[in-house]
Amino acid sequence: MSTSAQIGVTGLAVMGRNLARNFARNGYTVAVHNRTVARTNALMEEFGHEGEFVATETAKEFVAALERPRRLMIMVKAGEPTDTVIQEFAPLLEPGDMIIDGGNAHFADTRRRERALREQGIHFVGTGVSGGEEGALHGPSIMPGGSKESYESLGPMLEKISAKANDGAPCVTHVGPDGAGHFVKMVHNGIEYADMQLIGEAYQLLRDVAGYSPAQIADIFRTWNTGRLDSYLIEITAEVLSHVDAATGKPFVDIVEDRAEQKGTGRWTVQIALDLGVPVSGIAEAVFARSLSGHADLRAASRGLAGPKATQLGEAAAFADRVEQALYASKIVSYTQGFHEITAGSTEYDWNIDLGAVASIWRGGCIIRAAFLDRIRAAYDARPDLPSLLSDETFAQEIAAAQDDWREVLVAATRQGVPTPGFSAALAYYDALRAERLPAALTQGQRDFFGAHTYRRTDREGSFHTLWGGDRSEVEA
Ligand SMILES: NC(=O)c1ccc[n+]([C@@H]2O[C@H](COP(=O)([O-])OP(=O)(O)OC[C@H]3O[C@@H](n4cnc5c(N)ncnc54)[C@H](OP(=O)(O)O)[C@@H]3O)[C@@H](O)[C@H]2O)c1
Repeated sequence: MSTSAQIGVTGLAVMGRNLARNFARNGYTVAVHNRTVARTNALMEEFGHEGEFVATETAKEFVAALERPRRLMIMVKAGEPTDTVIQEFAPLLEPGDMIIDGGNAHFADTRRRERALREQGIHFVGTGVSGGEEGALHGPSIMPGGSKESYESLGPMLEKISAKANDGAPCVTHVGPDGAGHFVKMVHNGIEYADMQLIGEAYQLLRDVAGYSPAQIADIFRTWNTGRLDSYLIEITAEVLSHVDAATGKPFVDIVEDRAEQKGTGRWTVQIALDLGVPVSGIAEAVFARSLSGHADLRAASRGLAGPKATQLGEAAAFADRVEQALYASKIVSYTQGFHEITAGSTEYDWNIDLGAVASIWRGGCIIRAAFLDRIRAAYDARPDLPSLLSDETFAQEIAAAQDDWREVLVAATRQGVPTPGFSAALAYYDALRAERLPAALTQGQRDFFGAHTYRRTDREGSFHTLWGGDRSEVEA
């Protein structure tokens, strides 16, 4: 058995197989392994000619095929299967070796695994990989966590196989220790949910309020894709909307059931945001909107509920321009919320994440890749301690310019009864942030009334309680 493979990939389903091919196509010798040997054989038969592969059948053979320190990448189902595979391989490894988990692990699992393996001297590199099977093959956006030392050994290889941004920069960076990479991948997916929801709302407004057909809306999205909304998701939206079902001749969007799926990462983004106390209302609305879409019985039972009287809309083209403004402003808010969550995670777990670098590696390869990310990177590069993206002057000015149209769109949506939870949550967040006073003062009064929870005063330090049941005098708590 050769011991020359620079990297090994175990788990050769669609993602692992394509990542292994990507490494091999970039000149690396790749050991390949899969629980079911048939997958390894299939890879060798179909793609063995693409580069240097070392096919192995057993865990021992696989580990023996790797040069030291070993780099062993796991691309299996997230959750228990990942633990099973770690338990299988870890005893065969030596101090200094690396296990790279490229699956969609929960960052808390990654922290646990990293801690346990560190005791054995093994570097555990929890790595977010985005871009689906095409990205895995041609260049994904890669978000590795783990030790600095492991990145020194792995980084150059990951940089080679990663996507490249427009300026040629590789879409990979050492995100931070232990679970930082998987955390950032989780928020990436949360933002992806929000982006998709906002695009969906724009589509529905253009269709139900402005009266455009899917083909016309596809053209509008194509135009938007040449401007500041230029992104992979806007581009594919135009493709999906212009697609016609061959069997019926109807627009494809009209023959697909309107029930969306949601996998773990969008939900995790919201759950963790709740734990960290970060308002990610746009991402949460996106997860809830998918969830609501799936409640077929509830929706069927509610179809008879009264809606608004029909109203006249002005010129459709002018409305479409307003929707573009609303979409762009809401998008700025979703990214503001997502980056806030990364900041909070970084502080909580002491990861020291470079937000500009995160924006930079999302510019290529991943699902949310967009011209817009260049501007986020520039904002954080100019001011790494930016309290919020909305504090960046350029973004603040753009929202200021968009806000009248944004509000008009929501008025039209409300009048016509078109649900816009993403647009509305984004505007509510914006208005809440800029508000001089929030009703939280009243909330504190209520809490003090029924539970003696105390409150702080605007004019003096300290905690106070009013004797609500007595003479209503105030005592210092
Ligand atoms: N698909 C995507 O777009 C995408 C994008 C980014 C990240 N990911 C993540 O990448 C990972 C791989 O995704 P995928 O879609 O290629 O494959 P997958 O369907 O999630 O997993 C299938 C692979 O896991 C192996 N496996 C499952 N249980 C196992 C166990 N108990 N012990 C050993 N091996 C086991 C399977 O081996 P057998 O062949 O023997 O069954 C197969 O190689 C997942 O964590 C996924 O969440 C996926």
